[in-house]
Amino acid sequence: MANLPTLTPITSPWMHELMEETSVLNQLLEKHGSPINLHQTDSMEENFNSYHRVFEKFGLKHKIFFARKANKTKAVVQKAKALGMGIDTASLQEYLQCLEMGIDPEDLIITAAVKNRELVEKAVENGSVLILDNSDECELVQQVAAKQNRKAKIGFRVSGFFVNEKKLYSRFGFDLLEIDSFITTNFLESDNYNLLEYKGLHFHLNGYSIEQRSFALNQCLSFSQLLAKKGLRTEFIDIGGGILMNYLKYETEWDYFNQQLRKAVSKKIKAITYENQGLGLEVIMGVLHGELKSYPFWNAVSKGDFLYQILTHKDHLQKSMAELTKELDIEIRMEPGRSMLDQVGMTIAKVAFRKQDSAGDWLVGLEMNMTQMLSGSADFLLDPFVIYQKEQEDGEPVEVFFTGAYCLERDLLLKRKIPLGRLPQVGDLAVFVNTAGYMMHFFESSAHLFPLATNLNWNRTTENGKIDLAHFQNDENL
Ligand SMILES: Cc1ncc(COP(=O)(O)O)c(C=O)c1O
Repeated sequence: MANLPTLTPITSPWMHELMEETSVLNQLLEKHGSPINLHQTDSMEENFNSYHRVFEKFGLKHKIFFARKANKTKAVVQKAKALGMGIDTASLQEYLQCLEMGIDPEDLIITAAVKNRELVEKAVENGSVLILDNSDECELVQQVAAKQNRKAKIGFRVSGFFVNEKKLYSRFGFDLLEIDSFITTNFLESDNYNLLEYKGLHFHLNGYSIEQRSFALNQCLSFSQLLAKKGLRTEFIDIGGGILMNYLKYETEWDYFNQQLRKAVSKKIKAITYENQGLGLEVIMGVLHGELKSYPFWNAVSKGDFLYQILTHKDHLQKSMAELTKELDIEIRMEPGRSMLDQVGMTIAKVAFRKQDSAGDWLVGLEMNMTQMLSGSADFLLDPFVIYQKEQEDGEPVEVFFTGAYCLERDLLLKRKIPLGRLPQVGDLAVFVNTAGYMMHFFESSAHLFPLATNLNWNRTTENGKIDLAHFQNDENL
C-alpha cells in the first residue's frame, strides 16, 4: 500500500469525551437524522482572549466583533455576547436576529455586501454603524436618515491599498485613491450626505497576509490624519477578519502532504486524491504548475500572534502600528469569524454503504452531502475520525474515499484518500472535527429535498460524569 499522508487535526478534550459516547451519538443521530452538527462554545473564550491580550498589552482602545457569517447558530452569538464582543452582521436576517437576542445596537456593525432598504432602515433606526461600500449606499442611507429625521452612523470600507508598490484589487470598498475627493466633495464641500455621521474606516482583505494587513492599517492611519486636517475625526479603524487559525498538529505532516501531492499530480507516485485532483496544482506539457488552493491548514502564526505582528509592523519612520494608533487616539476594531470558532464544532455522519468502484478504490457512502462540509477552499485537509460500532480485532488497514448523497460524481466529503485502521461497517460514524467556522454552514443546501443538518449545542454539564441526551440543545430552540 502506498504511504498515504496523514493530517492529524488539533482536537479538544470535549470532542474526545463525545466520541467515546457512541450510544449517545447514536441516539442523537436517530433523533435528528444524519449528519448532525455539534457545538461546544467554551473555546470561544480563549480565542477571544488571544486577541484581547494583545490589545491590552499595547494599551490600545479596541473592540472585537465576531463575524457571525462563519456559523449560523445562535449559540455562538450568545457566547460572543457573554464575552462582551460586538457582532459583525452580513444581512438583514443576521442583524434582526441579533437584536432579538438582546444585543445592544451599539455592539452591532453591518458590513453586508448588499444592504437592502429594510436593513438600512433598521440600522439607522437603532443607531448601529453601517460600513458603506459605494456612493449608491451613501445615497440610500441619506434618504433613509432624512425620512427618519435622524443621523446615520457610518464607516467607509476602503480598498486598493499599496503593498510593495503593487495595488491590491478588491471588488469591495472605496478606492484609496478616490475616497479623499469623494469625502471632500460630498461631506465637506456640500451637504449631499449631511445626515451621515462619519465614525471610522474599515477594510477586510482577501487572503491571509500579515504584511498586507499591516500596510492597509498604515495607509488607513495616514488617511485618518489627512481627514483630521480637514476636520473629520476618525474614531475607529476596523481591520476586518481573515486572521489565521491553525488546524493541524504537525508541520511535518503538512510538508509531507504537500510533497506527496506534487509527486502524485506529476504521476511520480500513486494518486492521493480522488481522480488525482491537484487541488490547484496541474501538469501542463509535463511541467507542474499552480499551487495548493486550500486554506493554509497548518501555520505557525495564528490568532493573537497574527494580530501582534500586524500591530508591531513598523512604518518608514520605525514607528509601530500600535504606537501610531495610540498617538492618534484611534480605536482598533476587528472582525474575526473562523478563528473565533476554533475548536467549537464537529460534524458527525452515519455510514450508509461501502463499495469498491471500478478502479478498485473503496468508497464509503455517508448520509451527508458535500455542501454540509464545504468552504471556498479546495479541500478540507484534516483527517476524520471513525467511530466503529463494534470492537473487532481482525480488520485490515484500508484506504477510502468518503462520498456524499448528492447525485453528482463530484460529491465527495474529502478529496483526499483517507487511510483507516479497517473498513467501516454500515452504521459506523464518520466524525469531522473543527467544522464550526464556515465548513458546516456556509454552502449548505437542500438539493433532493434533504433537510439541513440539525445544530446541537452541548453545554457539557455532566451528572455523575455521565453524558445525557438532555444536555444537547437544538439551536432552533435557543
Ligand atoms: C467584512 C468581513 N469581515 C469579517 C470577515 C470574517 O473573516 P474570517 O472568518 O476569515 O475571520 C469576513 C469574511 O468574509 C468579511 O467579509
